[in-house]
Amino acid sequence: MKMWRCSVCGLLYEGENPPEACPKCGAPAEKFELVSEEQVGVIERARKTNQLHSDLLAELAKVEVTADASIEDNLDPGCLRVFAKAKEAAKLLRQFSVAEVRVHVNKNKWG
Ligand SMILES: [Fe+2]
Repeated sequence: MKMWRCSVCGLLYEGENPPEACPKCGAPAEKFELVSEEQVGVIERARKTNQLHSDLLAELAKVEVTADASIEDNLDPGCLRVFAKAKEAAKLLRQFSVAEVRVHVNKNKWG
């Protein structure tokens, strides 16, 4: 399967030929560039990792929501410390994950 990248908006399109018009921005077929087989391999290999980062970010968002709810409920000091630390840890891990995803995007490994 060939992969094409819209040079206007960056959309990746999979097909034997580029689309007549970009489904996202409407750019004509001639604005599509064929992605090299090597780069397609990199993108396909990175998709699982990117999905894992997405899953992790969703879970970390839940931790932050849970921690906020617990803090708002004004639990006893011991519990509040646990949830405050959980929120801090989730925030830090979110920053780590986002930084890794940014590296993937900059290396064209997101698609
Ligand atoms: Fe486009």
